[in-house]
Amino acid sequence: MSEPQPSAVPQPTAPKSPEGPGLTLYGGTGTGRRVTVRDLARAKATGEKWPMLTAYDAMIGSVFDEAGIPVLLVGDSSGNNHLGYENTIPVTVDDIVMMTSAVVRGTKRAMVVADMPFGSYQISPAQALETGARFMKEAGAGAVKLEGGVAMAPQVEALVTAGVPVMAHIGLTPQSVNVLGGYRVQGRGDEAGAQLIRDAKAMQAAGAFAVVLELVPEELAARVTEQLDIPTVGIGAGAGTDAQVLVWTDMAGLTQGKLPKFVKQYLDLRALLGDAARAYAADVVGGTYPGPEHAFH
Ligand code: KIV
Repeated sequence: MSEPQPSAVPQPTAPKSPEGPGLTLYGGTGTGRRVTVRDLARAKATGEKWPMLTAYDAMIGSVFDEAGIPVLLVGDSSGNNHLGYENTIPVTVDDIVMMTSAVVRGTKRAMVVADMPFGSYQISPAQALETGARFMKEAGAGAVKLEGGVAMAPQVEALVTAGVPVMAHIGLTPQSVNVLGGYRVQGRGDEAGAQLIRDAKAMQAAGAFAVVLELVPEELAARVTEQLDIPTVGIGAGAGTDAQVLVWTDMAGLTQGKLPKFVKQYLDLRALLGDAARAYAADVVGGTYPGPEHAFH
């Protein structure tokens, strides 16, 4: 396969200090505007690492926005983490439009990235543009994300040329779980590693402003990061990427069952919410809630 050619589509250039002196991408609030692709390009240039989280509704989006998380992904991981499906496949464009518009309403500063669900962009560049346009016009997304490498370059190019910023997603691509035969580490071995690098470069050349690397060996992710001018966002890809992303319900301890090895759980929200619900129920059953202080007279 030939090397991808330099991009013919617009590329973000890194401004010197878009948020003003002393303000960083993470937590640099008070700028009165949303994070842009130029801010992320600048972070790559200065070596500033940044965090990204998923969010599926306005309230959780507002919590992470207030915490200074610069990029929020309305992921199709909502399928298994929010909508009760077994995986990401059943998620629809309407689902993502509804959730993205909620996250946009709940946030002021974060770039909100809408994930293109299975079947909404693979058919053709025109289909990808139709979906991307809905996310920008109806939901107010700041960017879209799609899964795939070299084969999806025409879709990425069509979107970027039309004015839709694209975050690419390679390595383990959950929408292809049935083809991959499960959620397993990708890019192991010389040929698979070389293909991952080709995929990453093809996404950059097509105009993507960042690329997610999911479940790939740490050394390979670091090599891709070194070879790209755009930021890499790792999930299960070790410490060598420019940014990290986690599914919020995993990192907050709401997810049921065993978590993947790469997740760090920062909170046991399932236990805390369960305790709160049980305490409330006990008060109602025991007649101690509502108390006199909760009553109107
Ligand atoms: O849908 C999602 O949440 C994702 C992240 C895991 C990158 O694609």
